[in-house]
Amino acid sequence: MTERIERVVTSGTFSLDGGTWDVDNNVWILGNDSSVIIIDPAHDVDKIAAKVAGRTVEKILLTHAHDDHIGSAKEASDRFGAPVYLNPADRELWTMVYPSWGFDEELEDGMTLALGDTELTVLATPGHSPGSVCFYAPTLSWDNSEGVVFSGDTLFNGGPGATGRSFSSFETIIESIRHKLLTLPESTAVLTGHGDSTGIGLEAPNLEAWIARGH
Ligand SMILES: [Fe+2]
Repeated sequence: MTERIERVVTSGTFSLDGGTWDVDNNVWILGNDSSVIIIDPAHDVDKIAAKVAGRTVEKILLTHAHDDHIGSAKEASDRFGAPVYLNPADRELWTMVYPSWGFDEELEDGMTLALGDTELTVLATPGHSPGSVCFYAPTLSWDNSEGVVFSGDTLFNGGPGATGRSFSSFETIIESIRHKLLTLPESTAVLTGHGDSTGIGLEAPNLEAWIARGH
């Protein structure tokens, strides 16, 4: 069965280091007629459930543990009866939101997760946070791309994710993007945690400019 991708945009807040900001998050639903995987079920589980439309949620994958991405993970896990996957390198951020509830499964670099005929490969891409990951699916397509990578807050349309707050490193995110993302085929769509999608071929020429500007 061929898997397809759906996008839900949800609204809420992101808080860290004593500040709070309004944010819109992209929630990605990868699935077929019977089953789905949800990536970062942020803010509004009712809106996400409407798009899931009664299909079985096999897994909830988290790109990282900032509170805008994980704040509704427990509600989603309970509602859909699905296990939550996170890279344990983000445990310190996780426990700031869930001091007494643990996620179910640990993501690690290079592991693969399957849904139907689709395989997702976990790419550890630290920098925006220590445990940030991306999910690469060479057989999926978005807007006629060949392959997609769900990039969380590691790579956006226009450059790297933010590294100005706690637990972040600009040098580390640049190395992650250089070695883990810009090495993917140019035809790969980049499906981001916030804002517009982009492509590896569109972003790759800008690496040196990002380094020069320092963010
Ligand atoms: Fe983030």
